[in-house]
Amino acid sequence: MKVTIVGAGNVGATSADAIAHRRIASEVVLLDIKENFAEGKALDMMQTATLLGFNTRISGSTNDYSKTAGSDVVVITSGIPRKPGMTREELIGVNAGIVKTVTDNVLKHSPEAIVVIVSNPMDTMTYLALKESGLPKNRVIGMGGALDSSRFKTYLSLALDKPANDIHGMVIGGHGDTTMIPLTRLATWSGNPVSNFLSAEKTEEVAAATMVGGKTLTGMLGTSAWYAPGAAVAYLVDSILNDQKRLIPCSVYLEGEYGQSDICLGVPVVIGKNGIEEIIDLPLNDAEKALFVKSAAAVRNMNTALDGITAG
Ligand code: NAI
Ligand code: 2OP
Repeated sequence: MKVTIVGAGNVGATSADAIAHRRIASEVVLLDIKENFAEGKALDMMQTATLLGFNTRISGSTNDYSKTAGSDVVVITSGIPRKPGMTREELIGVNAGIVKTVTDNVLKHSPEAIVVIVSNPMDTMTYLALKESGLPKNRVIGMGGALDSSRFKTYLSLALDKPANDIHGMVIGGHGDTTMIPLTRLATWSGNPVSNFLSAEKTEEVAAATMVGGKTLTGMLGTSAWYAPGAAVAYLVDSILNDQKRLIPCSVYLEGEYGQSDICLGVPVVIGKNGIEEIIDLPLNDAEKALFVKSAAAVRNMNTALDGITAG
């Protein structure tokens, strides 16, 4: 199986590394516009193969898409961070241009690929990639919920002082610090509702920490995080390549599910060899429904910055 990762920066390179460690792909191609950058990262990673015991061939490419031909999965992490003085619309404009060009290029060489969007603002970029590519909706997946849910479970495990892998929980809605919805009501510690063990106040603290999880790390690191984002990409790609059919919250195109249409937003989906195989329409309570409506309105507002950019 072949995976292409566009953008060999922090998240792209860490995704390649995590995919190699999982031993789920025979080949990973990293592509970047910076001369020799992807090649250098790929070579460095290849030199860990005998130490870490993987056989994945990792190669780099400076904007030569012919090297990505025949990829089963393409992950798009290319983009720029917001710079001082730049409006949100300007940032969206720049990243939309990048995501649009990259999507066109990868599909020319890998027409059957499943496309995973990571670049921010991720829900809007997923919507753009879907509209621009004309791909069926099962083949365009926005990665954000896997990361946000992992952060949620981490904070729950710390609050409960219990092993992270015994915690289950999901974050739905937009991938943004005011739009995501940690589903505290449904979170469990080995099948037991966490509300049996945590006070409402502590649970609220966990939800609040989850929502600003990305922002907290950006404040500490001076740029956005990469270890958990890269691991979340690999987790999602594993479910596709190995047809695991895991239930993972992802940003997907909604056509009436959760009362929303013509928008990409995070909801639980079954991920397998065909990409999105099923959207699970969870019965939300009234408070959760209200949060979902608010989240959709914010993402829809963000999508208006694409006006004049999308073909669809
Ligand atoms: P970075 O700046 O380290 O890497 C971005 C890379 O994209 C750079 O190496 C740059 O040269 C490359 N690039 C720019 N234009 C390109 C083009 N046209 N073709 C190929 N490569 C191009 O940034 P980082 O930290 O890796 O973040 C990447 C994106 O992922 C950002 O938009 C960030 O906000 C987003 N992100 C999303 C997350 C999610 O959960 N969805 C989590 C973390 C980051
Ligand atoms: C993150 O959640 C900023 O999307 C990036 O870390």
